Amino acid sequence: MSGKMDRRSFVKAGAALGAMAAFPVIGCNSSKAGEGDLPKYSGAAIKGSDKIKVGLIGCGGRGTGAATNAMNGCNNVELVAVADLFQDKLDSVESRLKSQLKGQEKFGFGGKESQINIQHKFCGFDAYKKLCETDVDVVIDACPPAFRTPHAEAIVNAGKHAFLEKPACIDITQMRKMREISALADKKGLSIMVGTQRHYNRGYQEAIERVKNGDIGEIVAAQCYWNSAGYVGHSQHDAMEKQGLLKGLSPDDMEYQIRNWFSFIWASGDHIVEQHVHNIDVVLWAMGYKLPVEVNGMGGRSTDLPVMTYGDRFSHFAIDYDMGDGVHIASYCRQDPNTAGHVMERVIGTKGIMETHEWGKQRITGAKAWESPYKNTPPSVIMEHKALYDALKEGKRINALPDLITSTGVGIAGRMSAFSGKRFKYGWMVEKSQEDLMPKQMAFVKNPLPGVPVPGKYQLV
Ligand SMILES: NC(=O)c1ccc[n+]([C@@H]2O[C@H](COP(=O)([O-])OP(=O)(O)OC[C@H]3O[C@@H](n4cnc5c(N)ncnc54)[C@H](O)[C@@H]3O)[C@@H](O)[C@H]2O)c1
Repeated sequence: MSGKMDRRSFVKAGAALGAMAAFPVIGCNSSKAGEGDLPKYSGAAIKGSDKIKVGLIGCGGRGTGAATNAMNGCNNVELVAVADLFQDKLDSVESRLKSQLKGQEKFGFGGKESQINIQHKFCGFDAYKKLCETDVDVVIDACPPAFRTPHAEAIVNAGKHAFLEKPACIDITQMRKMREISALADKKGLSIMVGTQRHYNRGYQEAIERVKNGDIGEIVAAQCYWNSAGYVGHSQHDAMEKQGLLKGLSPDDMEYQIRNWFSFIWASGDHIVEQHVHNIDVVLWAMGYKLPVEVNGMGGRSTDLPVMTYGDRFSHFAIDYDMGDGVHIASYCRQDPNTAGHVMERVIGTKGIMETHEWGKQRITGAKAWESPYKNTPPSVIMEHKALYDALKEGKRINALPDLITSTGVGIAGRMSAFSGKRFKYGWMVEKSQEDLMPKQMAFVKNPLPGVPVPGKYQLV
C-alpha cells in the first residue's frame, strides 16, 4: 500500500482518510515495545526535497523545544505557522527557536535555522483554529493542559497529524472527549505522537521489554515518584512579575491564571496529572496499561507560597492504586521548595526488580540482572519526533494517544481521591463521574476560584 502512495500524499493527511486498515498502528501499548517495534534512530535525513509543513500551537518553553526537536528529528520539517494566546510570546518566538536549535546542535542531528520559515502568526483564543486552517501537515500542541482537548479536536477535525504534549487532558469530561478524538484520528488515518518521551529512551524500552519477557517474574507491586525540590510555578511567576507581564492583573483574572497555568488546578490538572503522569505512565506501560480497580489517595498543600498568588494546587500527593490480585501501585509526587528530589519508577516482581530513571540508570536486579548499556543516546525528546516523521515517511501510522489518555486518567483519579479524601472504584470515575474543571467562559474575564481543595469537604462529582 505504501508503495502506491507517495510520501507527500501520505503526509498530506487528507489523503490518508480511510487508510486505517492499510497502515499498521504503532502504539506504545504493544506487547513488545522495544527493538523491531518502534522506529529506530538511523541518523538519515528524509530524502528528496519534499517539505513537511509544521505548525506550532503554544510558543512557550516546551513548544519551542518540541518544534526544534521536530526539526532535528526530521531535516525536511519546516516550521511555517505559529499560534499563541499572547503577542509577547509570538514576538520572541523566532529568537527563542534559534537559541533552542543552537542548544541542540551538540546532538548532531543537523536541524538548521533555514527550517524556521514562519509565514503565519496567529494570536488569541482562536489562534489554534486559524492555524489549523493553514496547509500545515503536522501540528504540535504544547499549550497548557486545559487546552489540549479543544486543540486536539480542531487538529484532528482539520485532518492534520499531531504531536500532543502531555498530559492528554485535565478532567474526566475531557478524557471522554479525548477517547473520541483518538478514535476519529484512527478513522481518518492520522498519526498522533505524544510527549511521554521515556518511550523513546533506549534504556527504558529494553527494561520494559525485559519485564514483559518475564525477567522479573510476576509483577507484585510498583512505585513511582516525581518529588521535586521546588514548586514549578514559583520561578515562572516571579520572572513574569519582574517583566511586568502580571501588572494590573489579580489571581482571579483569567489572564493571570493562564500565564501562571502551572499553579492552577483547572489549567494544569495539578502536578500529579501534569508532571507525574510521566512516572505513572512508565509503571502502567510495564503492566500493559492495566487499569486500577480502586483508588485511595491523600495529599495537601504544605508550601508557604501564598495561595492564589501561587495558585490553588496541592504541593504533594500520595496515592495507592489497587490493581487487583493484591498488586498495588504506590505513587508519590511533591513540589515543595528545598525538599529532596526523587524522580524514578520501580516495578517489583517475584524474581527481580526494574528500576528506571530518565536522567540516571535503567536496570533490573535479580536472577536476570541487567543494566542499560545505552550511554549518550540521542535525547528521547528528539527521538519521539523522529519516530513520528519516520513513520509518516514509511507510510506507517502511530497513535500513542490512547496510552497517554489512560495514564492521564489514572493521574486524574489519584487527584480526585486526594482532593476529596475518598476511596472509589476506577470504573465509577470512568463511567459515572461528571468532573468538569474547565471555566465556562474562555475569555479574559474574571474567573474566581474556590481555593485549595479540603479533603473531606471537596465533593466528588
Ligand atoms: N514532555 C515533557 O517533558 C514536557 C516538559 C515541559 C512541559 N511539557 C508540557 O508542555 C506543555 C507546555 O508547557 P511549557 O513548559 O511549554 O509551558 P509555557 O507556559 O512555557 O508555554 C505554554 C504556551 O502556551 C501559550 N498558551 C496558553 N494558552 C493558550 C491558548 N489557549 N492558545 C494558544 N496558546 C496558549 C502560552 O502563552 C505559552 O506560550 C504542558 O502541557 C506541559 O506539561 C512537557
